Amino acid sequence: MSIIDTKSDGLPEFANPFRPGAGHQPPYLAGRDDECNEFDGALNQTRILENLILTGLRGVGKTVLLETFKPLAAKKKWLWVGQDMSESATNSEINLAERLITDLSLLTSSFLVSNERQASFGFGREDIIAHRPIGYKELKRVYEETPGLTADKIKGVLFFVWRSIPQGMISGIVFAYDEAQNLVDHKHKDQFPLSVLLDVFQSIQRMGIPFLLVLTGLPTLFPKLVEARTYTERMFHIIFLSQLSAQASREAATRPVQKQECPITFSESTVDQIVKMSGGYPYFIQFICKEIFDVWIRQSRLGQEMTIPTLEIEKKLDNDFFIGRWANATDRQRQLMHVISMLENCDTEFSVQELVNLSKEMLSKPFSPSQTNQMLVALGDSGLIFKNRYGKYSFAVPLLSSFIKRQIFEACLSG
Ligand SMILES: Nc1ncnc2c1ncn2[C@@H]1O[C@H](COP(=O)(O)OP(=O)(O)O)[C@@H](O)[C@H]1O
Ligand SMILES: [Mg+2]
Repeated sequence: MSIIDTKSDGLPEFANPFRPGAGHQPPYLAGRDDECNEFDGALNQTRILENLILTGLRGVGKTVLLETFKPLAAKKKWLWVGQDMSESATNSEINLAERLITDLSLLTSSFLVSNERQASFGFGREDIIAHRPIGYKELKRVYEETPGLTADKIKGVLFFVWRSIPQGMISGIVFAYDEAQNLVDHKHKDQFPLSVLLDVFQSIQRMGIPFLLVLTGLPTLFPKLVEARTYTERMFHIIFLSQLSAQASREAATRPVQKQECPITFSESTVDQIVKMSGGYPYFIQFICKEIFDVWIRQSRLGQEMTIPTLEIEKKLDNDFFIGRWANATDRQRQLMHVISMLENCDTEFSVQELVNLSKEMLSKPFSPSQTNQMLVALGDSGLIFKNRYGKYSFAVPLLSSFIKRQIFEACLSG
């Protein structure tokens, strides 16, 4: 955060510090100390018994927290490998292998040839003296020359990398993959990239190699892993990120503007309103604060009283965040989502039976259990709903129920 300009009236201009946007580091990361401590604890393992899953709804702060873990890992001399698990990386076993080899080679290519030069690995120059660089080609050669199936070949590469690392100087390697809900097995194509990944890590961890897997993704992630390999229940510790506490939400809103040069402050009642509107969801906090900040700067320049344009912000949020997802649903799917939004427990989890019952009360053409099931699957595919491990469902988008109620209300008003 910095003063970027000086206006002609001599007042400093303070750049809007808020950062609504996927993966954008917030000006102040609020309320995630416990999660950082859990990650820090996982780094104390010399033999990996517990890997991590970081899961939660969209916009809750998984990506930025994963990024925050990086320096914690470096402090304890863990190396870091990672990327987004794009769909193309996961549609076949060979693509998964390619992803891992490419990511690893970015790290291992900084292992140096001569004894004179030193590789820093981000820990400081004098820390590590490596033997020679290992580039993509060499890792690929090891992959090709290792006999067996894809899983054996990947294991061969990982084993080779571990042996090449100057022993005793590095605690291990964190393999951090974001958007890991994209990982799936494709039975019909006889391709099992997800199972391969799990088998490989389970096996090398059993050999005592400290390669820690940290997977981040939507709440569909863990059920998918368990479906692929039941042993994953024991292999992972799950950190479920939810909305921020009231206190942490307040800090997320106020800390970024508590700077000497900042021309505006949020009063207690303003913060109350931000917390209420955002439901404590980090993306919404950033979004709402950014809007208020801009409007208040404008209002103060014009000498106007500073007010929160609640309706305008809500409208903008609807357009930017919700409308696209809603517009892609069919009329009948919207009807079902309307029924969901009228359930008392719509913001937690609900069952097919509850929906069937309520739809009988609400609709002239109610949903049968099988229709409901089918439609929930379709809504799951379009990322609006997810099914948890116990067969219950939840909205996959935070605050979706309030949006739906607004939509229905507007539709009633207009016709
Ligand atoms: N703990 C936090 N405190 C304040 N803002 C946060 C926090 N976590 C995330 N954010 C903000 O929320 C938004 C969404 O974060 P992101 O990590 O992309 O979410 P996810 O990966 O879960 O979809 C970003 O604008 C980010 O700056
Ligand atoms: Mg993300």
